[in-house]
Amino acid sequence: MKTDLPTTEWIWRNGKLIPWEDASIHVMSHVVHYGSSVFEGIRSYETPQGPAVLRLQDHLRRFFDSARIYRMDLGYSPEEIATACIDLMRANGLGECYIRPVAIRGMGALGLNPHPSPVETYIICWPWGAYLGADALEKGVDACVSSWQRPSPNTYPTLAKAGGHYMNAQLMKMEAAANGYAEAIALSPSGLVSEGSGQNIFLVRNGVLVTPRLDGTMLSGVTRDCILKLAADEGIPVAAEGVAREALYTADEVFFSGTAAEITPVRSIDRIEVADGKPGPITLRLQKALLEVAKGQRPDRHGWLTHVSPGADQENARSGAESSAATPAGVASRG
Ligand SMILES: Cc1ncc(COP(=O)(O)O)c(C=O)c1O
Repeated sequence: MKTDLPTTEWIWRNGKLIPWEDASIHVMSHVVHYGSSVFEGIRSYETPQGPAVLRLQDHLRRFFDSARIYRMDLGYSPEEIATACIDLMRANGLGECYIRPVAIRGMGALGLNPHPSPVETYIICWPWGAYLGADALEKGVDACVSSWQRPSPNTYPTLAKAGGHYMNAQLMKMEAAANGYAEAIALSPSGLVSEGSGQNIFLVRNGVLVTPRLDGTMLSGVTRDCILKLAADEGIPVAAEGVAREALYTADEVFFSGTAAEITPVRSIDRIEVADGKPGPITLRLQKALLEVAKGQRPDRHGWLTHVSPGADQENARSGAESSAATPAGVASRG
């Protein structure tokens, strides 16, 4: 099979490790026709104690929340999926990587009632560098406000990370690319700023870090939550509030946040430079803080890391992170 993806040896499917080539699905699977899947995106980083997964329990809490919203029974507990993520990384010999649990509605029946189609759960992991390109984390990206909006609350449940929701994100991303931008920012149906195609958004104005409040039009990002907590640790004032489109043009700093995008500065929006077009000091401070925690270079005071090396349980206990194998999933805070 020809693919540009970096392949790995193993994929986890319904409790078993199977070879990469065998992880295919039938074209009559419900998910192919109706987008019926839920998934997660998680990163692991190299630390002095070996690889560690950032906020594994919080990502899995959201995975199970997404499944609950779409009435999907995954057939596994969060602890089992956490253990499976770690086992898969070890089996593939991966340290720094991206981990993608995904549950799909398989082949059973077509028609909109998804229940006759069985739920199948997969986990894939692979090395994945900077999502928006090698320079993006340092220099920032050019973004536009999309002509596509996020859906209204009570249309698509945006707190769920579900495959079908990303049709909207793809429209945004394609339009941005066609017009020469790296990324798109969506407004909500109210006209206020919502989020990027696959990231949350923050701005800084007069030293205050501002992010749109969770209003039912965006995903509650785990990275967003990290940033709100790190900002509090660093004594940076924070506000989660309604953000007008024009506040993006007049901000001192703007950045995206997400597991894939990490903290990516935005240097222009709709071809208006953000301040002087260079990443600002608060962006850089938070970027450094997040990467240092993820890479074990500063104390993990919130217990965000799950260490992966064999014999890592002691390290997990010491850092306050819950052992992937033995303890229940933590509750993601909703900032
Ligand atoms: C639509 C959307 N918003 C926000 C985010 C950021 O979420 P997180 O920080 O949990 O990766 C993502 C990434 O998963 C996303 O797809």
